[in-house]
Amino acid sequence: MEYRYPAGNVFYRKLARAYPLVTRGEGIYLYDEAGKSYIDGSGGALVVGVGHGQKEILQKMMEQMGQVGYVHGTQFTTRSIEAYAEALGKILPPGLDKIYFLSGGSESIEASIKFARQYFLESGQPQRWRVVARWNSYHGNTLGALSLTGRLGARRPYLPLLINFPHFPPPYCYRCPFHLSPPGCELECAKALENVIQMEGPETISAVLLEPVGGATIGALVPPPGYLSLIKEICERYRILLIDDEVMAGMGRTGKWFAIEHWSISPDIIVLGKGMSGGYFPLSAMVTKGELIDRLKERAGGFVHGHTFSHHPVGCAVGLAVIEFIKERQLVEQCAKRGDYLLKRLEEMKSFSFVGDVRGKGLMTAIEFVKDQKTKEPFSRSQRVTERIIDESFENGLVLYPGTGFVDGVHGDMVMIGPPLIIEESEIDEIIGILKRVFSRLERDLGEGL
Ligand SMILES: Cc1ncc(COP(=O)(O)O)c(C=O)c1O
Repeated sequence: MEYRYPAGNVFYRKLARAYPLVTRGEGIYLYDEAGKSYIDGSGGALVVGVGHGQKEILQKMMEQMGQVGYVHGTQFTTRSIEAYAEALGKILPPGLDKIYFLSGGSESIEASIKFARQYFLESGQPQRWRVVARWNSYHGNTLGALSLTGRLGARRPYLPLLINFPHFPPPYCYRCPFHLSPPGCELECAKALENVIQMEGPETISAVLLEPVGGATIGALVPPPGYLSLIKEICERYRILLIDDEVMAGMGRTGKWFAIEHWSISPDIIVLGKGMSGGYFPLSAMVTKGELIDRLKERAGGFVHGHTFSHHPVGCAVGLAVIEFIKERQLVEQCAKRGDYLLKRLEEMKSFSFVGDVRGKGLMTAIEFVKDQKTKEPFSRSQRVTERIIDESFENGLVLYPGTGFVDGVHGDMVMIGPPLIIEESEIDEIIGILKRVFSRLERDLGEGL
């Protein structure tokens, strides 16, 4: 049977693609019904942290389902909800310990921008509602989140539906928009935020939203030293809230529980998702400080927001099981070490003529492809370099995560490598082996003008 639209009744995400049917997952591997194995080299979309098929997670999930599978978030709480919030509260940066559970990253981004808006409304500043985000960011696909997402290709079809939020350029040192490089650049890209705030009117801005390490749109973009502290300084100067989107980079992925900790910054709101449940349940959260929530309690009596599946007892049981799993095996510390090893091995790829940049932190990494290593000229989109690498790797049993269009809204090719945090060095070697095979073939094809 072929799993491809229009066969069957599924409206797949990619309508031209045939989908293998996966019957089992174990560790970093997935197995399809034909028996073929795949290394989940991107953990889906950098979701799978604890690995596939972990019986302990299943056990805890079943226990909760056996007790109670669902209660509504306005009516009851459960031990799983309370215990998970307590466990998360212990690992979150100091002061950030009040957690609103949701079921997806976009949903939590929506909650965070609504929370910032309501906070200022209750603080007597109703004109503050606009959020500043960055170009080449990814914050989700719901309309509010997409309005903040700086991925032109995803925005284009929906522009008439989007909210007019301002954007500023990312710290993309490989292609610095100011043609500078650190440390001599004096962080012009961070200063650009202040410029945008001044032009838009600081009294209209509620929050600045950013990914501490840029993810799905631009590929594991690590900011230069001093960048995030300058952003925080600018936010404080104008009394604007800083929202830290850790949906992809959080929960140990970069070698610390939360990526922002690499730079010792304290945001006002943190958004989490993906690795919270490791993929076992749709789970996300918005985290903030009690002192901000108190403002809502005093004036309106609460946060005017909610969803049917928020504060889900089973989701929270899974989240708690995931934290325990990560702690028991010291996966955050291990991720930092494995990440260093992965990055070192990915550097070897620069011997291929089309590898422009290798970047990342921990097990959140990316390779950017270019037509010319010296000039950094991107490939023509018609060459479909990312797609060719993704498809060929898939054929060879390696799943990667693609990204295109980040150079100028059309051009730009990259893949992300973000395997489960449980990965061993020998398994990283396996990934590198497949990448080398796939890249050699592409080098040959490009040489022949294909
Ligand atoms: C940083 C970041 N924020 C938000 C989202 C949106 O999350 P979701 O796809 O769960 O809605 C993503 C998803 O890739 C993400 O990487």
